[in-house]
Amino acid sequence: MKFTLFSTLLLASLALARPNLRHRWSSSFQQQNGIDTINPNNASSSCTSGNACIDGQLARCVNGKYVLSPCGPGLTCAALPLSDSPGTTVTCTMQTGLKTRTTIARAVNGTNPANATSPTTPTPPDSPCDSGSTNSSTSLGQTSLTLLPSVIAKNFSKNGLNTTTSEVGEVASLMSVNNFINYCATLPNLPITNGQQLKNGSCNPAPMGAIPSTSKMPSAKFVTPVNLAVVPQNTTFRITLAVKHFATGYFVNPNTNYVAAPQQLDPTAGLIQGHAHVVIEALESLNQTTPTDPTKFAFFVALNNKADANGHLYANVTGGLPKGTYKMSTLLAAMNHQPVLLPVVERGVSDDTIYFTVAGAGQSTNTTMPTPTNAPQPSQPTSSSATQTASPGNATETCD
Ligand SMILES: *[C@@H]1O[C@H](CO)[C@@H](O)[C@H](O)[C@H]1NC(C)=O
Ligand SMILES: *[C@@H]1O[C@H](CO)[C@@H](O)[C@H](O)[C@H]1NC(C)=O
Ligand SMILES: *[C@@H]1O[C@H](CO)[C@@H](O)[C@H](O)[C@H]1NC(C)=O
Ligand SMILES: *[C@@H]1O[C@H](CO)[C@@H](O)[C@H](O)[C@H]1NC(C)=O
Ligand SMILES: *[C@@H]1O[C@H](CO)[C@@H](O)[C@H](O)[C@H]1NC(C)=O
Ligand SMILES: *[C@@H]1O[C@H](CO)[C@@H](O)[C@H](O)[C@H]1NC(C)=O
Ligand SMILES: *[C@@H]1O[C@H](CO)[C@@H](O)[C@H](O)[C@H]1NC(C)=O
Ligand SMILES: *[C@@H]1O[C@H](CO)[C@@H](O)[C@H](O)[C@H]1NC(C)=O
Ligand SMILES: *[C@@H]1O[C@H](CO)[C@@H](O)[C@H](O)[C@H]1NC(C)=O
Ligand SMILES: *[C@@H]1O[C@H](CO)[C@@H](O)[C@H](O)[C@H]1NC(C)=O
Ligand SMILES: *[C@@H]1O[C@H](CO)[C@@H](O)[C@H](O)[C@H]1NC(C)=O
Ligand SMILES: *[C@@H]1O[C@H](CO)[C@@H](O)[C@H](O)[C@H]1NC(C)=O
Repeated sequence: MKFTLFSTLLLASLALARPNLRHRWSSSFQQQNGIDTINPNNASSSCTSGNACIDGQLARCVNGKYVLSPCGPGLTCAALPLSDSPGTTVTCTMQTGLKTRTTIARAVNGTNPANATSPTTPTPPDSPCDSGSTNSSTSLGQTSLTLLPSVIAKNFSKNGLNTTTSEVGEVASLMSVNNFINYCATLPNLPITNGQQLKNGSCNPAPMGAIPSTSKMPSAKFVTPVNLAVVPQNTTFRITLAVKHFATGYFVNPNTNYVAAPQQLDPTAGLIQGHAHVVIEALESLNQTTPTDPTKFAFFVALNNKADANGHLYANVTGGLPKGTYKMSTLLAAMNHQPVLLPVVERGVSDDTIYFTVAGAGQSTNTTMPTPTNAPQPSQPTSSSATQTASPGNATETCD
């Protein structure tokens, strides 16, 4: 039997999640698992869930109607087969990748396509911000330009909807047969993040990486100031943060490698390797009920050192803060500054937030925190460049 590429793709798109699909591209197909069949010439067909291809565009089912999104330049919508498991996934993909189904199927099947590439030693970054402690793996997984079959997440090819168990309003997951390796190509209006802090938004192609076990989820709590403390105005005070289940002291250059590598774990302890930030935001009052503006903050610092024997990290708020009420929060991050990624949805909060008051002249204070001058400190380089009392709108972390 002969099919045009287009009709072949359409047939494939009708066959999502159908068992025994393997190698049977010209068979008749049935609908299953709430995935709709769709008349290719009728974009106004109703749907209940799932993706399809219409005129080379990705058609997503939104509120019972297909919504078309053009694929990026050089891309077309296609239903790619899974050869290790039944079904297909609908995605924007490179035209050239569609030349033969066997190419795709082989990649899924287990043939290692990466043999030609030999491991190379990564060039160390020459940035002055670099800690010099990184030594990334030189395995094939870091050099191959093709997806290794061993890392394919087969569940990604399912949209998660189940007519018996899905909650009302649950939406279909985006699906992929190739771990979304070219996902950003489907968002042609967004630049690649490329290790930069792009304030206008971007698409980041780095995988999320290693996730710790539930017994290794980090947690932080402020020691000083304590919640509801009243501290004197314009007076240096010390922040003490207690952390547990967190491998501290790991941070990369935030200007060149922002969210540019997967989350990594300490190979022996299994803890996330990262660091904490502390941000202080001014409030109208301690009982403020309106959300704050994340682009504005009164103080920001990265706690880049290793925690001391007590599990404490420190920073000075040099010069203190003007009279007012404040919210102080942690932002725990993996070493490439991404928020820590944890293994389960239902869990306690890793970050801490406290509220405190900076008293005006003549007002009493009740903080018992030690003065910075006499405080025991872990040995560390000067951290003045890591602190910043920023003007509103300057939310870019500096080289720390
Ligand atoms: C398209 O689908 C709608 C709704 O199912 C139907 O009313 C209409 O007649 C169809 N149009 C064509 C050209 O098939
Ligand atoms: C995929 O693997 C199956 C089972 O090992 C084999 O029968 C099939 O020919 C393979 N397909 C390709 C395209 O290599
Ligand atoms: C691929 O690499 C494996 C392991 O190094 C080797 O055994 C195999 O012969 C290679 N295949 C090709 C086609 O080079
Ligand atoms: C980097 O890894 C290589 C190979 O495992 C090792 O020989 C080298 O000592 C490591 N370098 C550092 C700085 O850890
Ligand atoms: C997801 O993958 C796991 C492990 O392979 C499997 O047990 C599970 O059934 C899959 N879930 C779905 C919905 O396919
Ligand atoms: C839907 O969920 C039920 C209950 O968990 C399960 O038995 C069934 O296999 C699921 N169906 C599909 C198509 O995954
Ligand atoms: C960001 O977006 C604004 C508003 O659209 C635009 O004026 C500005 O030039 C953009 N900046 C960059 C770096 O693209
Ligand atoms: C500090 O004083 C304020 C105002 O009297 C009080 O509300 C708060 O609980 C006190 N905090 C501590 C930590 O003692
Ligand atoms: C917060 O408390 C102040 C007095 O301390 C009061 O004037 C104000 O109305 C309160 N605001 C809210 C939102 O409760
Ligand atoms: C805080 O200031 C004190 C006194 O200047 C200094 O000894 C200490 O190292 C500073 N701590 C931090 C974390 O910068
Ligand atoms: C504290 O600092 C703020 C901002 O720099 C300033 O406006 C205020 O006058 C200072 N207060 C005192 C008592 O020096
Ligand atoms: C943002 O902070 C950086 C580093 O402190 C500084 O160089 C830059 O001028 C600031 N930008 C604005 C708009 O305040």
